[in-house]
Amino acid sequence: MHHRLQVQKNRPEIKVVKEYGQLPLVVCYSSLLNQVFMNLLANAIDALSDAATRTDTPLKEPQIVIRTQTQPIQSLSSTEKATDGAVIQIGDNGSGISQDVLEHIFDPFFTTKPVGKGTGLGLSISYKIVVEKHGGQLRCVSSPGQGTSFIVEIPLNPQPS
Ligand SMILES: Nc1ncnc2c1ncn2[C@@H]1O[C@H](COP(=O)(O)OP(=O)(O)O)[C@@H](O)[C@H]1O
Ligand SMILES: [Mg+2]
Repeated sequence: MHHRLQVQKNRPEIKVVKEYGQLPLVVCYSSLLNQVFMNLLANAIDALSDAATRTDTPLKEPQIVIRTQTQPIQSLSSTEKATDGAVIQIGDNGSGISQDVLEHIFDPFFTTKPVGKGTGLGLSISYKIVVEKHGGQLRCVSSPGQGTSFIVEIPLNPQPS
């Protein structure tokens, strides 16, 4: 996706900050998870492009932060016990998401983008991949003006799907 980060006519280059912690090898459907990260990054780039081109206060330093770490997570299959998980966080400093939109972002076909741009499927598919295929969690933390952060949690040990 490198070319989408580069400087464009109406937008500065998007800076990517990588804070990669130690992650062990994880048993997973890697091409599906790759799809999840692509979806999250594409959404972040869309949001940052929007914020950089808005007329009132254009965002001057669009940025994506990718953070990885290992930490205890709540596994779906054993509700009481915490299990070790790979946690991947993708954050942007775009315009953020209002509470009423936030309630729908994982719904299939929900999009706030113009016809022809958004399909509204990226997050619903990503949610299925993370939660149903990996027994993990996909959460979003966002508020208007505060940017947006998606947190992917994948149990280190395979969970029944
Ligand atoms: N990083 C983000 N910043 C702001 N809004 C976001 C972000 N990621 C997702 N959204 C919101 O969630 C909606 C659904 O996302 P998605 O399922 O990927 O569909 P699409 O990208 O095709 O609209 C988007 O239309 C947008 O309103
Ligand atoms: Mg999308």
